[in-house]
Parts: sequence; structure tokens; C-alpha cells
Amino acid sequence: MRELLSQPIAPRPVCYVSQVIEKATCAMGCMNPMITFLPLNTSWSTERGPLTVHWREFVPPMISKCCQREVFANTPVAGLRVNFRLHGLLFCIVVWLVTAGCEPNAAARAAKPASMQHPTGAARPSNAQLADPILEARVDLLLRRMTLEEKIGQLVQYNDTGDVSPEPPTRGKQGVIAALNPESGNHVNAMQLAATGRLGSMLNTIGAERTNTYQHLAVDRSRLHIPLLFGADVIHGFRTIYPVPLGLAASFDPELVTELSHMAAEEATTAGIRWFYSPMVDISRDPRWGRTVEGAGEDAYLGAAMARAYIRGYQGDSLSKPGNVAASVKHFAAYGAAEAGREYNTTDMSEIRLRQDYLPPYRAAVEAGAATVMSAFNSLNGVPSSANPFLLTSILRGEWGFNGFVVSDYTAVMELMNHGIALDPATATRKAITAGVDVDMMSHFYDTQLPGLIKSGQLPMAVVDEAVRRVLRVKFATGLFEHPYAEGVEVTAAVAAHRPLVRQAAEESFVLLQNDKLADGAPLLPLSPARKRVALIGPLADDKADMIGAWAGAGNEGDIVTLRQALAQRAQQLGTTLLYSQGTEIDGSTQAGFAEALEVANAADVVILALGESSAMSGEAGSRAYLDLPGNQQQLLEAVVASGKPVVLLIFSGRPLVLDWAAKHVPAIMEVWFPGTEAGNAIANVLYGDVSPSGKLPMSFPRAVGQEPLYYNQFPTGRPPTGIDLSKPPGDGTRFFSRYMDVPNSALFPFGYGLSYSSFSYKDVELSKSSIPLAQALSGQSLPLLEATAIVTNTGDRTATEVVQCYVRNLGASIEQPVRSLEGFRRVTLAPGESKPVSFPLGFNELSFFNLENKPTIEATHYTVWIGGSSSASQEATFEVVSPSAIAGLH
Ligand code: BGC
Repeated sequence: MRELLSQPIAPRPVCYVSQVIEKATCAMGCMNPMITFLPLNTSWSTERGPLTVHWREFVPPMISKCCQREVFANTPVAGLRVNFRLHGLLFCIVVWLVTAGCEPNAAARAAKPASMQHPTGAARPSNAQLADPILEARVDLLLRRMTLEEKIGQLVQYNDTGDVSPEPPTRGKQGVIAALNPESGNHVNAMQLAATGRLGSMLNTIGAERTNTYQHLAVDRSRLHIPLLFGADVIHGFRTIYPVPLGLAASFDPELVTELSHMAAEEATTAGIRWFYSPMVDISRDPRWGRTVEGAGEDAYLGAAMARAYIRGYQGDSLSKPGNVAASVKHFAAYGAAEAGREYNTTDMSEIRLRQDYLPPYRAAVEAGAATVMSAFNSLNGVPSSANPFLLTSILRGEWGFNGFVVSDYTAVMELMNHGIALDPATATRKAITAGVDVDMMSHFYDTQLPGLIKSGQLPMAVVDEAVRRVLRVKFATGLFEHPYAEGVEVTAAVAAHRPLVRQAAEESFVLLQNDKLADGAPLLPLSPARKRVALIGPLADDKADMIGAWAGAGNEGDIVTLRQALAQRAQQLGTTLLYSQGTEIDGSTQAGFAEALEVANAADVVILALGESSAMSGEAGSRAYLDLPGNQQQLLEAVVASGKPVVLLIFSGRPLVLDWAAKHVPAIMEVWFPGTEAGNAIANVLYGDVSPSGKLPMSFPRAVGQEPLYYNQFPTGRPPTGIDLSKPPGDGTRFFSRYMDVPNSALFPFGYGLSYSSFSYKDVELSKSSIPLAQALSGQSLPLLEATAIVTNTGDRTATEVVQCYVRNLGASIEQPVRSLEGFRRVTLAPGESKPVSFPLGFNELSFFNLENKPTIEATHYTVWIGGSSSASQEATFEVVSPSAIAGLH
């Protein structure tokens, strides 16, 4: 490949537009601007050879440059600086107006681009950078030079097909190429496509060498030199891996998420990646669905906070800053509501539920400026998401003003045929692109079908043009044209300097589910160094690969610290002894290892059991019908508990599991998810109390799988079993309620729950107002209407952090409302005995609901507000929203 790339090629006009702009603006600043602008098609001599550029490519950016002081800062004629600046600017504008006026469709071009106009004239563009008129002018100019084939190329995405040649196969060569490189499933040669301008972006092509190889083909060889955009599934770290997103959500720490996301972006850009297929913000209320692990769990408010945090981390304040990447919010929409938790399955729900419970995180990400969105695999109310104009155009672009581009999920365009809404590839293509899918990931449909659809008139050219514009906007905004290649020293392994941050993230993600006091009156955790002999047992105790979970970016197994390694080090420091036995496989059936495990347990003062799922048991296509410990781990657990030794159970999983037996028999249980590169160190730090656990559950843990979907913010029903002991089977007077006969309704461990090594009390929940006039509640939608405050006290004997949570219930509205909903949270660190007032502003967003017209509103109703440490918080206060008639009645 290297030889091929070293062949003589045309002069490389990398950054050619910016070079010209620089030259022209400098010339304008210190010399006669007329010279700069007279020829409309100008030949320039660049370092790399002659280059002809049409005036349209540099005038608009030049206007913007004119307005920047730096351009003139170095002019030798300092005294005349301002004059030249004004002169240059005015001249630019005159040239621009005069020449633009000569264009046949000048009026149309002067108008706001069609794509930025909402059909109802409503939404503000979601990303200001993408709405920049200068950028739009560059897009416009480039688009005018593109052939249909080149335009379609921008809408096509493939992965690295492994081909070694960008040349079309010749007779002689063909056999050799085929033998070396099995053809990709799609029968494309991505190198050839890149070199001929027929490829716009690539997925999961990782590493500076590989991305630069492809990029050179696109930039050096293709006619218009349009760079490729490299996207990858960097979901929870690139090389230095932090906890899976569900675990990260348990931290309730958006600032931390932003820091981690930025760290991942900085690492990945050194490998040429400029676009993350993340964040995954699908709300999931059913842990049978394996992709639960990729999101923030069951709650829309927490999900939205996390969504914003990821976008801030990835994109920063500018897509073009080195180290920032474009985000792709996925999977739009409601993928997490797959029926029965079965992967890729149908979703069907009311529009009110969609808007109230599933859309908020996507919306939050879009409003935070997400540059791209990925359309989902699932159908929603009968319409596959990847051909759903209601989702992709009416809501996303119309209501939310999204002005980035939409990429389909992997072969989702092709799958429209499996959904049964298209009988042939042409129809699938037409439906997807007209619904709003701009880029076809891997289906091989847009490249094969769009030319025919355009030529036959079945698809207006404007639809393709618009999709291309959206892609080009993102490419310009990310600075790809100026910096197409991987930059800096490539990160190929976990970064030592990043380890403390991912370790902190892991520590914050752990949720202490149970920590009973033993006979000596002290809780089992934190572990006392007086327990001299520690037995570490279980298939996840010394397992590197599974520590980094599903979608572990480019994480290397060799970088991972296992629990066994960390505890061995700790034993050395403390002068204790670590005994180890694997006991069983994650999904094993043989009990051959049990005897050794029991021997180890019997010889110890305390047992740490590391049980749970493999990382492959969650993530894509990781649905499970049972939520128990896999294989024979439950038997191992029971055998070890029967030894009578105190047991600390660590659960590694990508979802809530059913831990009913363990909750009854094991004194200490901690959920550690898949913690990442620093797994072992983080767990050891928390086990030994260097850090107190502070994580809270982002999903309810059920008592039985039959309770699913189980979520805290359910509706009350007409027969709530209030005051009934649901642990007893129904009897006289307790049957005809919304309940099960064989299990309580409640979660074993509810949403928001998590213990600490300290303890916290809540008192004096107060509201700044007891009533709010309806008119005020409906006006000024972003302002707080009132504040809810509680006094939180650390009642334990060590400094610790508590996630203080605020829940709201609305009673009396025209639409049934959940029994409570999270509307605020805050991490608060308190010293022993310390008290702090913690406040939550409540405004329209927190108090409104969607009415029958699917519009957010507030009605004259009653509200209850709780502040506490979980969704079972009991300290409350109430207020009302009052209508004018009620107010009149008061006087
Ligand atoms: C997944 C996406 C992922 C894409 C690209 C799909 O199968 O659903 O989440 O981003 O593949 O790897």
C-alpha cells in the first residue's frame, strides 16, 4: 500500500481553500485589494503547485476573515490598518453582491437555505456552527461543483474493506487481490470508492495509519478532494476505558461524564477518528434488553442530563477544536422500548409516552448541539425509525431545529425490506432518504439506487442535494478540510495520565446494595485489614477482557488491572494473605472448581465473590430472558455462603440482575457493572474504604424477571395496592388490586437507591412558594417558578458523598401522571455531622407534562415534592398551581 501511495500524484491541495483565503486576506490587508478580487477564476501558485480556484470558494470565508482583527495585526502599514480593513470588507461585500446578482437564481440564493427553514417557521437551528452563513456559502460553492455520483458518494458509508488497492481490479491483478483480501459482504472496495469521490465516511476504521491511508486517497486522488469523516463506536473510552454508560449513569455526575468524554475524544482523534457513534441515549425500562448497558437507564431526566454531558465532552464549544469530535446521538428513536426486551424488536407506544419518557434525552443532546443523529433499527408505532418522517423530519428537524445530518444504523436502510415496508432496494432507499436519513451506513443501497431514482424522476435532486449539504456542513464545521489527517502522537494504549480519572469514574459508579452488620455490630464493608486471610473467588475475579464491557472502543486487554491483581497488591501493603480460586466459568455447568473454591473460602476470614455476566451477555444482540446469575454461579454462591464465612458479593453486569436470594443471604452486595481499565484498583479502593461508595441505581433491580418492565415512575392505576402487604399472597380484601399473586410490586432495589459507608438524614423539605398562578407557570418557560430545599446531614462518622434527589408528583391533571418523577439531583459531599441546605429550582420543564394534543403544558393542579436519597424518598412538601378563577375566589 505504501508503494501505491508514493506513486506520483497530482499536487496535493490540502487546505487549498484556506491557503487561498490566507493569501488573499493578507494581500488585502497590506496591498491593493483590487488585485485580489479582479479575476473570478483565479490561478494561484501554492507550495504544492498551481491551483485554480473559483472566486466563490474564497470570497465568503474572506469576508469573515476581514472581520477578524488578527488578519491585520501584522500589516506593515499600521496606521492605515482600520481603513484597509473597512476598505477590504466593503469591497468584498460589493463584489459579493454584484456577482451574486449576476447569478440566475440570485434571489433564491439570497434567501435562508431551505434546510434551515422549518416548514412552520419554528425551531432555532440546534447547532450554531452548522448554521454559520459563511460555512453555508462554502457548502453551496462545493455542492455546485459536484456531479451526481460525487454527491451520492457523500451519503455512503462503509467500513474498512481491507482492500490493498484503490485501483479498479485489472485482469492480471484481480486474482491476486481477491486471494489476499476476501471481498466484503457488500462487494465494494472502499479504497476505490474513496479515491474516486464515491465514499463520504467510514466506520470503525481505526488507527492513524489506516485512516490516513484512506484519507490520502480521498484528499489526494478524488476530483474534489473532499475528506472522509471517520466514525467509530467509542462508547466509554477509546484506549483508556471507563465504566459502561449504565455504570457511569450511576455516578449521577454529569461533569465527570463530560471530562471522560473529552478524554476519549482527545485519545481517538490521534487515531484519525473525528466522529463518535455516541451517546446512546435510549431509555430502557426492561433489563432483558442487552443494550440497557449502553444507556443511562430508565429515567428521562437523568438520561437527558447524561446526554448533554456527553455532547459537551465530545464537541466542546467548537467542533473544529483539536481533540473534539462530532457526536452521533443514537438510536433515534425509542429503540430501548423493544417489546419483551428482545433485540431489534418492535416498539409501540402512545405519542404522549414517547414525548414524556423517551424523547427527552435525544432532545437534550440535540439542543446541546449534537452534530449528527443515528436512526434506529426498530419500528415505532408501525413505521421503521429509519424511514420515519414523523421522527426524522417533523420532530427532529421541525420541532427541535436539528441541523446536522442523520446516519442510518448499520444496514438499517436495507432492513426496511425485512420490515416489509419496501419490496425492493429502490423503494427502501426512497423511503429512507425522503424520511430524513442522509447517510446510508453499510446497506449498499444509496450508492446503487439513488442514481436510478434521480434519473427516473422518482426522487427530486433537491432531496439528494439537501442530504449532501447536511453532510458537508459537518465536514466543514469539524475543520476536516483544513486538518484531514490524524494529528499528534497516536494513542495506542491506555494513557497513564488518564488512569486516575477512569479510576475515579469507576469508584463513583459502584452501587452498594447491601451492607449488613455482622455479629460484632459493624457492617462488613469497608473491609477491615484485621481480616487477615481474604479469599477471592469467582469467574470475574481475574478476568481482563470482561472488565471493559461491551463496546470497549480500542481498549487493550493488557492495560487492564483485574481485581486479583489489585487485591494482591493490597495484601502486600497490608501484610494480609490473598487466596484465590476461579470456582467456575461465567456460563459454565461443571462444578469441578467448587471444591477448591470452598477450600479457599473455609481457610479465609472473609470471602469476596466476583460473579456476574460476561461483557458479551449485554450490548447489541445481548437480550436475555432470565436475569439470574448465568451458568452455575448461583450454586457456587449458595455453596460459599453455606461455608458460614462473611461474603462480599460483587456483581459485574451490564444490566440489573435478579438478586433476590443474595439479598436474603449475603451481608454485603455491591454492583460494579463493567468498570473499565482500572477495574481492580477502583474496586479495591472502595472495598477497603479509601473511597466511600456514592453510586445510585439508574435502573430498578427487580425481584423477579416477570416484573419487567419495572420502573419507578409508573402510573398509579385505578387500584393501587396502597397499604397492602404484598409479600403475602392475596386473600380476603387484598386480591382485586394492581398486584402480583407471587411477588411484591416493588423493586428489590429501587431507582436512585445506593448505600454509603456513612449515612445521611433529610429534614425540612420546604418550597419557596405554596401556590403559583397558572399564567405565571405558563410564561417564561426557562425560568424557575419555585425552589425546593431540604437540609441534608451526614449522620455517619466519615466524609462521604450523597446524591440528593428531588422527585415531583402532579395530581389532578387532565392526563394521568406518574407516581413520581425525578426532576433534579445533586452530588453533595459532607463531613461527619455536617448539614447543608440543598435546593432544586423547579420550572416549566420540571413541572409540565404532555397533554392530549401532545403539547407540554401546566394545568391548575396539585404537586408533591420529595427530596431524599432514592426514589423512595419520604420527606415531602406540597404546592399548587392555581387558575385565575381560583385566585379570584381567594379575594
Ligand atoms: C449498532 C450501532 C453502531 C453501529 C456501528 C450497529 O449495529 O446498532 O449502535 O453504532 O452498528 O458500529
